[in-house]
Amino acid sequence: MNFKIGVLAGDGIGPEVMQSALRILKKATQNSDHTFEITEAAVGGAAIDLTGEALPADTLNLCEKSDAILFGSVGGPKWEHLPPTQQPERAALLPLRKHFELFANLRPAIIYPELKDASPLRSDLVENGLNILILRELTGDVYFGEPKGRRGSGPDEEAFDTMKYKRFEIERIARIAFESARGRKKIVHSIDKANVLTTMVLWREVVIEVHKNYPDVKLHHLYVDNASMQLIKNPAQFDVVLCPNLFGDILSDEASQITGSIGMLASASLGAPESKWGQPGYSFGLYEPSGGSAPDIAGQGIANPIAQILSAALMLRYSFKMEKEALQIEAAVKKVIAEGARTGDLLPTGSSGRALNTNQITDLVLNAL
Ligand code: IPM
Ligand code: MG
Repeated sequence: MNFKIGVLAGDGIGPEVMQSALRILKKATQNSDHTFEITEAAVGGAAIDLTGEALPADTLNLCEKSDAILFGSVGGPKWEHLPPTQQPERAALLPLRKHFELFANLRPAIIYPELKDASPLRSDLVENGLNILILRELTGDVYFGEPKGRRGSGPDEEAFDTMKYKRFEIERIARIAFESARGRKKIVHSIDKANVLTTMVLWREVVIEVHKNYPDVKLHHLYVDNASMQLIKNPAQFDVVLCPNLFGDILSDEASQITGSIGMLASASLGAPESKWGQPGYSFGLYEPSGGSAPDIAGQGIANPIAQILSAALMLRYSFKMEKEALQIEAAVKKVIAEGARTGDLLPTGSSGRALNTNQITDLVLNAL
């Protein structure tokens, strides 16, 4: 196959860590039967500076012709003065998700045993490692529900968004939750707020119905407030956490912080296998680190590239069915971490350990491959 990859590095540390990921990708795939065509395009603040738009038509065009998108990160103080709807995050990332109907967002939160000191939780809570898959619905809910807007003036001025789910939207993400759980510990916690919100009553009903086809998987329901508490109290109880869009946004940040190393966490946003994007038989997807553009350290060459590298591994796994190469990248990262290599974000505060820069840790991963 010839796979086309649209590379959108974006802002802040995005371009720096993207260079690392592309180096690893090249080496990891050099002996495969496939060829890869990599095309870069502007997105986010960088694209606003160039063209006035966060998601220029050329960039969207490139993505439409691609089999997968490797995404960096967007946003930064430079563009915060813009009206909210024109800011990089809202004007680039959300339209991309919606346009390609990337409804399934996989955010694995993993604690590497060697990094458990980086977790803010007491070590007895995380000593056996953690491997939680936050599965977030990504194209529905209050993020996209209509109507949304503002009206009126004075004390009566109001603003509104609409929380809304269609049955099929809940069904398709629930199926992915149960399928994923089958390859793991076979536990799904479905998150809702069915004690207050009608949308969430439907969510729970549909999840229960879909579950009937997966009797081998254990299903629990948690209200989102309780879930946020349980994640800190006893994170080891979780395997797959199935979330509506808004709650998944919040809980995935919480879960990633529990691992202590957001610079290590990759994510995949997938559409339906039968979607019209990408090549038949392969899943179109967008792959991005869970962390942001980190403007405070951008341009210094010290950012942790591992989340971007692992995002490329997820792309090989989910979009190109290259499990072997994905595992090789993941094993190389594990080896380098096990041998003690650390970027600044992975050193406990006050530690006297030496921090490697972006290129140095990338070289080590390359050598380990
Ligand atoms: C995320 C981010 C985005 C979201 C923002 C940048 C629009 O927080 O991917 O979690 O809210 O989905
Ligand atoms: Mg978020």
